[in-house]
Amino acid sequence: MNGNRTFTMIKPSALAAGHSGEILAMIEKAGFRLVAMKLVRLSKYQAGLFYAEHSSKGFYGDLTSFMSSGPIIAAILEKDNAVTEFRQLIGATDPSKADPGTVRKLYGKSITENAVHGSDADSSAEREGNFFFSQLERV
Ligand code: CMP
Repeated sequence: MNGNRTFTMIKPSALAAGHSGEILAMIEKAGFRLVAMKLVRLSKYQAGLFYAEHSSKGFYGDLTSFMSSGPIIAAILEKDNAVTEFRQLIGATDPSKADPGTVRKLYGKSITENAVHGSDADSSAEREGNFFFSQLERV
């Protein structure tokens, strides 16, 4: 069964470039409801915990340095079939391979600085949302 929630982060480069409002507008226009949202700056250690599944990959150091280089916006989003629908909205991980009109094609700069994160499965969405938000912070 497909879940109805996913988790996203607007990454430091997109926030610093002033694109967070446009990205949130795209998310809302696509029919996602905001369940929880916060602006936060991760330490490199915290970014490492969040991306622990990638710790053996060559890009892990660059990814965690980048994700701790400035504030991010973290959010839980709700829509039917949320994980799949959100991945369609944001496009491929590598912005150069993302479809036209997707968030990463419009606002991503590189595979690391790809504007937004989106959960890759319902189980990831649950774990990632729990990393940032308590039950009391969800509406
Ligand atoms: P994200 O959706 O945040 O999930 C993991 C991140 O690793 C991904 O987006 C990319 O920013 C980053 N990354 C860097 N290099 C690679 C790579 N070669 N393959 C996949 N992801 C990568």
